[in-house]
Amino acid sequence: MRRSLACLLLLGCACPKNEAAAPPVVPPAPRAVVDDCTLATKLLPGVPGSPGNLIASERNPNGASELATHMRLMVDDVRDAKAKVLAGQAVPALRERHRKLRCAWPTSPSDRNEAFDAMALSYLSKVAALDAKPADARAAYTAVVGACRTCHEATCDGPIAVIDGLELDAK
Ligand code: HEC
Repeated sequence: MRRSLACLLLLGCACPKNEAAAPPVVPPAPRAVVDDCTLATKLLPGVPGSPGNLIASERNPNGASELATHMRLMVDDVRDAKAKVLAGQAVPALRERHRKLRCAWPTSPSDRNEAFDAMALSYLSKVAALDAKPADARAAYTAVVGACRTCHEATCDGPIAVIDGLELDAK
């Protein structure tokens, strides 16, 4: 009884932090033949993080878009990957978790364009290379952070300090 009430409460909470903290429990399903998250994917108006429906955020007084919220999940995952790479431990697969960046509402919908999508694809290819558990995990990890940087230099350079901190040699 108590448990089902807790579940109901959880379901009612649209808090993105819960989502970010949830570790992937089930191994990712085999990749669908048709990619359901591309530049062509129509975004649904009204979902949390869409224009006019920003997600309450401590960092951002105006609220956060779906893409900004997803970026926070990516930052947390990559920070965790950095610790694992430095410790010589296996890094959990991230591509399935991160691929949503191609079909998430940005603050300005026009930012989701062909140039953005090309850089998102490039980023996901670096993540896939790290997921493949290469012999040189440090190089593969560094390429992932490089792909964060490439997109941010082209789109918004505010988070560059965060990206600097993800480099393996950052203090
Ligand atoms: C393909 C382009 C692209 C890639 C790759 C990318 N970002 Fe972003 N990122 C963006 C855009 C665009 C925004 C702004 C989102 C918005 O305003 O809705 C953003 C937002 C952010 C934010 C701010 C979130 C907030 O709370 O406002 C951080 C931090 C960030 N990115 C870090 C990263 C890191 C770290 C990586 C790599 C792990 C990365 N980004 C990869 C395009 C990208």
